[in-house]
Amino acid sequence: MGGIGISIYGIFLSFLFAFWVMTPAYVPNSAAAVFGGGRPIDGGRTWRDGRRMLGDGKTWRGLIGGVLVGILIGMLQILAEPYLGISVLTPSVVVCLAVGALLGDMAKSFVKRRLNKTRGEEWLIADQYDLVIGAFVLLLVFNTALVFLTITPMVLIGILILTPLLHRGANIIGYLIGVKDVPW
Ligand code: CTP
Ligand code: MG
Repeated sequence: MGGIGISIYGIFLSFLFAFWVMTPAYVPNSAAAVFGGGRPIDGGRTWRDGRRMLGDGKTWRGLIGGVLVGILIGMLQILAEPYLGISVLTPSVVVCLAVGALLGDMAKSFVKRRLNKTRGEEWLIADQYDLVIGAFVLLLVFNTALVFLTITPMVLIGILILTPLLHRGANIIGYLIGVKDVPW
């Protein structure tokens, strides 16, 4: 295997690393679907175009429950890292990932409503990558060096490939167990 060049093993490790780093951002999305419901974050208010600001799919319970579960899982990962020989997650990174993921999701819903797409309607690319963009915006602001030191091009490719696959997989499961209305 060895060498600096691209090896199958190197790609595999990069993808595994991508999954590890992004887990605190992936978890909030699924947890929000489990905990969601109740009062919507926009309080039912409409924007000046007459449509909802965010819609009933963005609730306080989903936001808070999702962020807390994401942070909890991330903290467990931090505890596990020494045993796995990994050193990337810190409390600050975990919070950026969990909060950023759902802020990105909310920003996406805001734009989605402006484009007159109803709650739950599929918006390809945006629905899948909103959490990645939100998480990276916060990481770039609060953990700039970490992003440039650990997110190599192959890790980024791993994130871009794994995210839509995991997103779809999680949503199908969410649909089957009844916490999501649609399997996307
Ligand atoms: N959810 C929530 N609060 C959030 C995010 C998600 O309560 N901040 C819950 C909602 O029950 C939502 C489900 O998780 O229906 C799935 O989330 P998502 O697919 O992001 O929402 P959609 O219903 O598809 O709404 P949108 O069209 O605005 O994306
Ligand atoms: Mg959706």
